Amino acid sequence: MSESPRQVTVTSLRKLKEQGERFACLTAYDASFAAVLDDAGIDMILVGDSLGMVIQGRSTTLPVTLDEMVYHTRAVSRGTRRALVMADLPFMSYASVPQALDSAARLMKEGGAQAVKLEAGGDAVAIVEQLARHGIPVCGHLGLAPQSVHKLGGYRVQGREHAAAEAMLADARAMEQAGADLLLLESVPAGLAERISRAVSVPVIGIGAGPACDAQILVLYDLLGISMGKRPRFSMDFLQALSGSEAISVRAAVAAFVQAVKDGSFPAAEHTFT
Ligand code: KIV
Repeated sequence: MSESPRQVTVTSLRKLKEQGERFACLTAYDASFAAVLDDAGIDMILVGDSLGMVIQGRSTTLPVTLDEMVYHTRAVSRGTRRALVMADLPFMSYASVPQALDSAARLMKEGGAQAVKLEAGGDAVAIVEQLARHGIPVCGHLGLAPQSVHKLGGYRVQGREHAAAEAMLADARAMEQAGADLLLLESVPAGLAERISRAVSVPVIGIGAGPACDAQILVLYDLLGISMGKRPRFSMDFLQALSGSEAISVRAAVAAFVQAVKDGSFPAAEHTFT
């Protein structure tokens, strides 16, 4: 009988940061892809509300429901043995502390998630504090928050102006102080992401946030080149990059991403904002 691999936890991810070792994360929405990612060495799988766009074909993540998140999280959990499974709290499922606790409890009890992610800054401190107090590992998503796309006026890089950059740094510190175990920065200038990664002791996962983050994440369908519409600049089609090599497979593309994150060759300058 094959031995079960050691399960990744928020504690083991923090140890990687302390040791200066980068780690790789991807989104997944079903058991089969989750199993491939797990086998290829992905440390954390995010059941992102990006499923609203890449699975359901919607133009934003806003219509995704908590029931849908629970359904996909359960499927991913079934396919995963080693990686940490984190699930997104969808739009308006964490507007108050009691609602956030109920929603996170469903993702964990019914979906099998081991952590939850919420898009919010310093104003969510009370929510993060209460989730942490109830033993729920939390990731705070800063920078471009797709659930606020209408307020932001589009999918734009965040934190370019001095005041916005300082506010994001303060939010990151406040989140850590409140008990967040992870932070995620989306579409943030590389210099600011580096400052934030150095300022906090929890691992910082970047997407469009430059090479200095402790970890990188991509939407799986961007990595496979099968997303509808234009691929974001910060992403890379790792499947296409394998063309000409002997073994072209989803597993090989994911393994190439894991290797590129660990050796620091991804993200390159062309995937990075200044
Ligand atoms: O929903 C999602 O897939 C995400 C990633 C963009 C990080 O939040």
